This record gives sequence, C-alpha cells and structure tokens, in this order.
Amino acid sequence: KPLVFSGVQPTGNLHLGNYLGAIRKFVALQEKHECIFCVVDMHSITAQLVHEDLKAQTRSIAAAFIAAGIDPVKHIVFNQSAVPAHAELAWIFNCVARIGWMNRMTQFKDKAGKDRENASLGLLAYPSLMAADILLYRATHVPVGDDQKQHLELTRDIAQKFNIDFSARIKASGLGVDMMVGEEKVSGYFPMTEPLIEGPAPRVMSLRDGTKKMSKSDPSDLSRINMTDDAETIGRKIRKAKTDPAPLPESLDELEGRPEAQNLVGIYAALSDKTRQQVLDEYGGQQFSVFKPAHADLAVQVLEPITAEMQRLMADPSHIDAILREGSGRANAIAEKTMADVREIIGFL
Ligand code: TYM
Repeated sequence: KPLVFSGVQPTGNLHLGNYLGAIRKFVALQEKHECIFCVVDMHSITAQLVHEDLKAQTRSIAAAFIAAGIDPVKHIVFNQSAVPAHAELAWIFNCVARIGWMNRMTQFKDKAGKDRENASLGLLAYPSLMAADILLYRATHVPVGDDQKQHLELTRDIAQKFNIDFSARIKASGLGVDMMVGEEKVSGYFPMTEPLIEGPAPRVMSLRDGTKKMSKSDPSDLSRINMTDDAETIGRKIRKAKTDPAPLPESLDELEGRPEAQNLVGIYAALSDKTRQQVLDEYGGQQFSVFKPAHADLAVQVLEPITAEMQRLMADPSHIDAILREGSGRANAIAEKTMADVREIIGFL
C-alpha cells in the first residue's frame, strides 16, 4: 500500500524553494495517499548544534504545513525527536551503511567544506538518519526537491543491503516479502522507496543567479522569497529578479541556455499548477516587463494567505503543540511495530 513520507528541517526561514519543491507537493499528494510529514529537528543539529530557538523554528515548520493546507487529522504531522525510534533505527543503519557511501554525498562535502575532519559525526551520518525516517514507516514515496535525490538513492542502497544481509533471517521470521534485487530473489523487509521529484520547479534557483539554487544560506535576501515576506517585498524581489533582455520564447527548447528565464517560467508554472509550455503559450513573445508584474501578482495571491495563516497559528503555539503531540503518538505506534520486527530480524534479545 502506498505511503508518502517527507521531512523538512527547522533551520532558518522557509523559502519558495521549500514550498514549491516540497510542501506544495505534500498538499497535492494528501488527496490520494496516506501521508506522514515530519519536522526533522534531529537533522537540524548536525550542521549547527546550538540554535537560538529550536522550539519556535520547529513550530513554524509545522505551522507552514498546516497553513499550506495539510490536514493533520487525516495525516500524521509530528516532530522527529518525539519518536525515539528514528535514532534507534539510524544507529542500525549506521552499521549497515559504509563510510565510503557517506563520504560521496555532495551535501556533506558542501556543508563540511574544506575542514572535513572538524565536521560533526552527525553531519557525516545525516543520510542514515534520513533513511531511518523514511524506512521506519516503510514509506513507498518521498516527495522532495531535486537536491535530495542523492540521499534517496542512498536510502535505497541501505534498504537493499539490509534486505540482502538479513535475507535468511527475514525469511525465517516470516516478516518479509519476496522481492527481486537485480537477478537475485530475496526475502526483503524494507521497500525500495521512490523519490517524487518531478513537476515544473524541482529545483528553484536564486532570483539573482539562475545557476545557483535558491537557499536560506545565500547572503543576498533578494535571491530568495521567504515564506514570511509581505506582498510588497515579494513584488519587489520578482521585479528585481535577474533576467536577460530577450522576450520570453514560444517553445521550451528556446529556454535552454537562459537559466533565469527558465527559473521564472518554472516558478510561475508551479504556482499556477500549469505546465511550463502552458505558461509559454500565454506569455511567449512578451517582454519581462509584462511577465514580471503578472508573476508578482500570482506569487502574492498564492503566498499571502499561507503567510497570514502561519502568523495566526504561531500567535498561540498550544494548537500547533497539540497537533505535534497527537501526531507523534500516532507515528510512534507505527514506528514501534517496525522496531519490534527489526530487533527480531537482527537478533537483539
Ligand atoms: P530541507 O529542510 O533542506 O528542505 C526541505 C525540502 O525543500 C526542498 N528544497 C528545494 N526544492 C526546490 N528548490 C530549492 N531551491 C529547494 N531548497 C530546498 C528540499 O529538497 C526538501 O524536499 N534532508 C532533508 C530533510 C529530510 C527528509 C527526510 C526529506 C530529513 N529526513 C526524509 C525527506 C524524507 C532536507 O534537508 O531538506
């Protein structure tokens, strides 16, 4: 049975990339699938241990989920640290995964920088915890932005190695299902999770440089639209977005080599639930002086109600806290079943 899982870190402010690459997709997926959405507070201490107000940051991501339209009654919304099994399964996966796999992760290389010896061990093991998040619920589908693709491939590698290494014990315990791994038929316990990365804006780029990802760490605030920006600020950032002098083309092919135009078209398409071609059908041949004001209006129309609702929810945290507490209880019940199986498969007494 399909099960959707995804997580967002409570670090810094959410931006348009997080919204279009992840949260907006969560809202669409919840119509058809059972979903679990997690604020991954344990991940947020890997790069920076001490946070000024981690509790408030955690609540604000949960508020963004709810404000964007996620239904916390039908689906599970919770924070990672409230379900200890995430850490327990991550430890087991630390023993399944190889150091070489972790060393190859581009996010680790970027975040650790030159002084790799001095990065936290948690930053290196980050993908193990992420695999645990997903596989604890035996989730089949994970909606994320393009930057998480490599981590999801690693999640599959971990699931596959666990299934192969423990194949005989999984079979003996009667807990697995038969699955093909390459040519080999094994009795597997963890599913091969599929990433859901598609859509018109899987990688939202900086508004100042179409070759750089939109990110919370970019020193220029003009490079990103924050979920907390007011209408005036959103409008100004889009009007100031870097573009080239040519009008918008009629066909997708002609967008190639024009990263800034490509980015704005992708964002517009994602915000209006259209394809990029449909956007070009409407605006092909027009100048950016026409497209940008329409773009700003659309962005404000979509984002303003979410921002307002987030602020309303944050004004009284007790409601958000109750949602997270209830969600953690439900998540814990599923997680404990998985851990009982895993302990049995491994042979812990
Ligand atoms: P995080 O917290 O950095 O980002 C949350 C989500 O936003 C997406 N995203 C983007 N999408 C498009 N364009 C961008 N510029 C952009 N920037 C960020 C991310 O891809 C992500 O989907 N490791 C994860 C959190 C995590 C997780 C998980 C995700 C932990 N456990 C289990 C899925 C399943 C992360 O750091 O995302």
